[in-house]
Amino acid sequence: MRAGLLLALLLLCTSTQALTLTEQEQAGQRLYRQGLSSSDAQLQAQVGPSGIRVPASVLPCASCHGRDGSGRPEGGVRPPSLYWQRLALGQGERQINGRRYPAYTAASLAKAIRSGVDPAGNRLDPAMPRFDLTLADQRNLTAYLKRLADERDPGLEDQVLRLGTLLPESGPLAEAGRVVRAVLEDGIEQLNRQGGLHGRRVELQVADPGTSAASTSQALAALAQRQVFTLVAPLAPWLDSGALASQGLPLVGATPLDGGGPQVFDPLPALHEQLLSVAMHAREGLGLQRLQVVFAGQDQAIAAGMLLERMRQIGFNPPPAQPFEGRAVAGEGIVFLGSPRAFAELATALEREGRQPYLLAASAQVTSALPGLSAHWSQRLLLAYPFAPSDWRAPGREALQGIRQRQGLDGRQAALQVSTLCAWQLLVEALRQVGRDASREGLVAALEQLHGVDTGLTPALGFGPGRRQGLAGAHVVQVSLPGPGFTEVAPYRAVPELP
Ligand code: HEC
Repeated sequence: MRAGLLLALLLLCTSTQALTLTEQEQAGQRLYRQGLSSSDAQLQAQVGPSGIRVPASVLPCASCHGRDGSGRPEGGVRPPSLYWQRLALGQGERQINGRRYPAYTAASLAKAIRSGVDPAGNRLDPAMPRFDLTLADQRNLTAYLKRLADERDPGLEDQVLRLGTLLPESGPLAEAGRVVRAVLEDGIEQLNRQGGLHGRRVELQVADPGTSAASTSQALAALAQRQVFTLVAPLAPWLDSGALASQGLPLVGATPLDGGGPQVFDPLPALHEQLLSVAMHAREGLGLQRLQVVFAGQDQAIAAGMLLERMRQIGFNPPPAQPFEGRAVAGEGIVFLGSPRAFAELATALEREGRQPYLLAASAQVTSALPGLSAHWSQRLLLAYPFAPSDWRAPGREALQGIRQRQGLDGRQAALQVSTLCAWQLLVEALRQVGRDASREGLVAALEQLHGVDTGLTPALGFGPGRRQGLAGAHVVQVSLPGPGFTEVAPYRAVPELP
């Protein structure tokens, strides 16, 4: 019991590291969060119309006004936000719960907390306890209330929750950018129509990442300046996880190329897990034992390495991965990682030598090369699809249909529509669970707890401690040519967990 309490206190302390507080402010924070006086005596609160006395530690300010001080919008008489900005700064009347009053001063604030009367002499609702503050407690608390607004993570305001994303406005990804934007804006509109999230209206800030690593990190910095709470579904090939981490931004969406990090939650499976699903099907369904891994481009080397390692773990005995150098490669089955163009080159080189191995690849990497391949490859291509039409169920199909109708989208870019929608649904689900008293840390913890999220368009999504991909495998689809035509030959299954 005691150990548990200690641990809880420790956690409380570590999570305040971001803000450096003076000793006085720290004492105010203890009072605010835990109801502890700076004196040896126990701080008492009088509760309700009859003034029953209880220790303030049972009813700390944070339990009603929120750990971040933004108040609670739900219910009848609502604990208002306690930001100094709202309470004390500026002229003019404030209005809350039907009371009107001029700005608070340190003295009138102490009076409100001690005896439940506001600066205009109105009685506060008895739902607000009266606290027997010492003079030192009063000073500590006031000092802390002046800092309270800084405790909030950016993008989280009284009335507004601001999200951000990176979408190219020109260049080859512009059309995709418009699709992602339409899906996100639609989700936000629907959510706001139902009253937003925990009393906050949701807003989206968009920045253009341009076409280089430098312009991407500039766009990211600009978003951070505009105070966004988290990123959702960015379309930014040059995004790097270091820049994300240095801005402290969580991300729900595609993993940056250089790998994710604890703040990144990707609805879709990692490339190597998708390919592992196809490799397993090739072994079990086609009897292929020796698979040659080939990667085109140094940026694929890491994923190729991870794939080899996972293959070994589940009993494959693969030769070392080979970089693709424009020449044919030996093997009855070749697992390819790289661009559509390199994939087409590999196919041509093999065909020229009269070879016809099975080619295994991820749909997201090679789909655009398929129409250019010859009938030589018909039935020899096995592709990984994280989700497929066989996953679609009525609610998911209707949701997608609704978005398309409202936003003027059609069936093109369906995969992008679905993956964006998945990112959005995961984020909203986690934000709902965090509650109004949100923080980035809380969001990351809530995302980590998500399991079995049913999108109606994909296999169930979920994360876990250390698990940052919503899916862990793929459907296997066989391609017939010319066409191309697609036949699902193995349903989605998660690959075995790491030992
Ligand atoms: C049990 C819930 C609860 C706790 C605990 C609580 N409050 Fe309140 N507080 C309220 C409610 C409800 C109101 C609104 C009363 C009203 O508007 O009539 C309120 C109002 C206030 C106001 C008046 C704000 C205004 O705009 O006039 C201040 C100041 C305040 N609380 C400070 C505190 C401080 C400081 C603590 C901790 C020492 C604290 N409260 C603890 C529920 C609580």
